[in-house]
Amino acid sequence: MIRLIMHGCNGKMGQVISKLVEEDTRIEIVAGIDVNLHHSNPYPVFATIHDCDIEADVIIDFSTAAAIPSLLDYVQTKKVPLVLCTTGLSQELIQKVQQVSAYTPIFFSANMSLGVNLLMNLAKRATEILADAHFDIEIIEKHHNQKIDAPSGTALALAEAMNECLDHQYKYQYDRHADRKKREKKEIGIHAVRGGTIVGEHSIVFAGQDEIIELKHTALSKEIFAVGALKAAFFLVSKPAGLYHMEHLING
Ligand SMILES: NC(=O)c1ccc[n+]([C@@H]2O[C@H](COP(=O)([O-])OP(=O)(O)OC[C@H]3O[C@@H](n4cnc5c(N)ncnc54)[C@H](O)[C@@H]3O)[C@@H](O)[C@H]2O)c1
Repeated sequence: MIRLIMHGCNGKMGQVISKLVEEDTRIEIVAGIDVNLHHSNPYPVFATIHDCDIEADVIIDFSTAAAIPSLLDYVQTKKVPLVLCTTGLSQELIQKVQQVSAYTPIFFSANMSLGVNLLMNLAKRATEILADAHFDIEIIEKHHNQKIDAPSGTALALAEAMNECLDHQYKYQYDRHADRKKREKKEIGIHAVRGGTIVGEHSIVFAGQDEIIELKHTALSKEIFAVGALKAAFFLVSKPAGLYHMEHLING
């Protein structure tokens, strides 16, 4: 049985993972870490990772960027594999993640949904074929009315992934109302819709002469990110030190 430390255990994602693990006989949470200790959990909870004296095979993190430096110090010293899911890390912190991955395996992805990451692969493949055939590329993302940032980080990551296949020659067009002119050939339009309780939807439209191809992913609950993080944890425990991403998991 895999022993897991849940870092950020009392947050929304930490609680979704705790529930999933309760129903999974292959893995158990041996300890949780959270600055918020006012929550009852079926495992011991420590305020910081350095207070935790319980050994584990892997750590899953869904916390906050400020908590990551000390978590990285811990995994570097203890050589524990880490599934790092917290978003909004600075460039400096991302560099530190890369450095620490020389000592212990780290799985790092801004979107733990297997589906979104497969969508990214499919979008790249479609771009390689369709851009040369003069298809225009537009991304439409939809999220709930509480979301602050727009466009979503995932929409930007999709655009980046496709632009990699286009030698980074395409520019991003976020809003068309200010420019009264025709669409340029080498651009990717990115559009954000906000409303209701939409968990997350990303569509990529490849519009050509008399035909349209649309690739679309719809997230129906936060559970997909938790399922992805657990899959990454199972994947990571047998891996040597290094930096891993969803692509490694999807491609085996
Ligand atoms: N990679 C993905 O697919 C993915 C998916 C969902 C959320 N996220 C990211 O995961 C993070 C957490 O998301 P959430 O929705 O669970 O947020 P949340 O705010 O509900 O939970 C964060 C938890 O971390 C705890 N915390 C804060 N500081 C801490 C510290 N120093 N040490 C330990 N714990 C600390 C908080 O008390 C809280 O319980 C965010 O950065 C979010 O963007 C990533």
